[in-house]
Amino acid sequence: MVAMSFVRPDIREMKAYAVADVPEDFIKLDAMEVPYRFSETLQQQLAQELSAAEYNRYPNPASCGLQAALRDAFAIPEAAKIALGNGSDELIQLLTMLVAQPGATVMALEPSFVMYRHNAALFGLNYVGVPLNADFSLNRDTVLAALEEHRPALLWLAYPNNPTGVPFAREDVEAVIAAAPGLVVIDEAYGAFSGDSFLPQAGQNDKLLVLRTLSKIGFAGLRLGYVSGSPMVIGELEKIVPPYNMNAFSLIAAKFALQHMDEVNAHIGRLKDERRLMSEILSSWDKVQVFESGANFITVRLPEAQKAFERLKEARILVKLLHGSHALLDNCLRVTIGKPEENQQVLAVLQQHCFYNRHSDLLPAAASRMKRHKRGVWAAAAIAGALAAMVLWLLSGSLIG
Ligand SMILES: Cc1ncc(COP(=O)(O)O)c(C=O)c1O
Repeated sequence: MVAMSFVRPDIREMKAYAVADVPEDFIKLDAMEVPYRFSETLQQQLAQELSAAEYNRYPNPASCGLQAALRDAFAIPEAAKIALGNGSDELIQLLTMLVAQPGATVMALEPSFVMYRHNAALFGLNYVGVPLNADFSLNRDTVLAALEEHRPALLWLAYPNNPTGVPFAREDVEAVIAAAPGLVVIDEAYGAFSGDSFLPQAGQNDKLLVLRTLSKIGFAGLRLGYVSGSPMVIGELEKIVPPYNMNAFSLIAAKFALQHMDEVNAHIGRLKDERRLMSEILSSWDKVQVFESGANFITVRLPEAQKAFERLKEARILVKLLHGSHALLDNCLRVTIGKPEENQQVLAVLQQHCFYNRHSDLLPAAASRMKRHKRGVWAAAAIAGALAAMVLWLLSGSLIG
């Protein structure tokens, strides 16, 4: 207990980022993961490449060819330098560290990705959250005024934004970049799902950094983020990147993934089609407000979002409840786009939530899934009961014997 007094009091007050412990039979639509993996043939090839990994040696990102593969796959300009991170989460932390001087300010739009604020707090920096409009668009005047007033060393702009999905108008973002006094990070975690990117501008302007990740295009488990920007700023960042932050297996798998972008792009295409379909169906329900999405999720406002979230959970579907996390997110849910049959089940439960009140009113897919789960629970209980009875019977036999 005495040792605890040496831990920073502000950290002791914090709560750890809760990674949901999701039962295996759940449909997981809470974290913008891609539901698809490579075809069997590619998985076997990947396994073979991984088996040759020199895991007894420290990995060397510079010589493994991954940066060249990234440049190639995403047309990163020659003028830009690239730094790799253990997920873009690590780069968010390092970029915050880069500007962490006493009195410095970090700015982000709100609501947005929670790690911007969290990292500012971690490094003891001032944090200014500039509210979005009620429709989650960027309010250019408010942001420009806030830039002038607070002169942030670092501005975060998720493009498209999380947890709202709404793509900001490019001209607004350009005006904000032009006016910013410090570094501006355009976080394009969901860039593959929108029609626009600032990557072609990377390297042209010292203050512009473009942050991306492989997580949202099918490789969340690899933990591979990358940031592109002017050689001068990336050169400074390199000084604080921990040595060997990337592991040998991730480097091999990421390079492999980039060599098979046709399959990755096919998955992205399918998810975009599903996003359009989901948005169209939900928009046709008068009780649901659907926000335009440029990402692999959609954010919706519906009556009694908390109840809808619980109903989805009852049907073994996990989405993100946004209600309560920010005033603008009242009664909002964020739903990651999954496989067609998964999305159908989400729609079935939400339809039942919005328009009916009995499970029997569910669309057939969700109803049978719920029934199957209940049958599974009863079967497990029956087996457990039988086993317990058998143990008791054996015990009583051995005691009597
Ligand atoms: C806007 C945004 N940036 C960055 C991240 C972090 O992604 P990762 O660390 O998996 O690369 C996320 C994850 O949800 C995100 O939504």
